[in-house]
Amino acid sequence: MRQMSAAAAARQRRPVTGREVPIEGMRAILSRTDPSGVITYVSRSLVEISGYTEEEMLGQPHNILRHPDMPCAVFHLMWMTLKAGKEFYGMTKNRAKNGDHYWVFARVAPIVRDGTLVGYTSARFIPKREMIEEWDALYTRMLEAENASNVADSERCKHGAEVLVRFLRSKKADNLTEYVMRQL
Ligand SMILES: Cc1cc2nc3c(=O)[nH]c(=O)nc-3n(C[C@H](O)[C@H](O)[C@H](O)COP(=O)(O)O)c2cc1C
Repeated sequence: MRQMSAAAAARQRRPVTGREVPIEGMRAILSRTDPSGVITYVSRSLVEISGYTEEEMLGQPHNILRHPDMPCAVFHLMWMTLKAGKEFYGMTKNRAKNGDHYWVFARVAPIVRDGTLVGYTSARFIPKREMIEEWDALYTRMLEAENASNVADSERCKHGAEVLVRFLRSKKADNLTEYVMRQL
């Protein structure tokens, strides 16, 4: 894993409230990035739910939405899947600008035109409460493994991934996407 930049470290330190953003109905929450993960488009629903304006998000790396409760192994897996040219489905806890949070079920996929990668796209939906509870508990265990005091920074994601692999094996699922799709 690459070293965390000063900006990324600052983002990780931003406060959280533990409050969930109230959301009504199921709406697609959309964004797109360029090939380096910099945001190029956000839907109005993402502006509403995140608390950021469109101007604040466009041109920023997508980790502007990252919540510190998210294990790094999930994003590592997501990027490995995208780099392999495949789509990724997963659950994400995002941090709103004011520190509140919201859970989304997300599809993230490469956008390829004429054989060339031109960016990535994501469509998020508000998941069922049971899904949130299950993934919240799993991510908590993964994060504990990543943040254990005897784990070197460079090994963090690997430790989270081990917890995830054991969980998926116990559910007889081949991978995270397969398991999450089963729950819909
Ligand atoms: C299209 C697209 C959508 C993304 N959406 C989110 C998101 O909603 N929340 C999030 O935390 N990361 C999202 N990411 C992943 C971020 O780019 C980043 O990998 C992640 O927040 C972890 O941040 P870090 O690499 O600084 O640790 C998305 C990436 C792409 C390409």
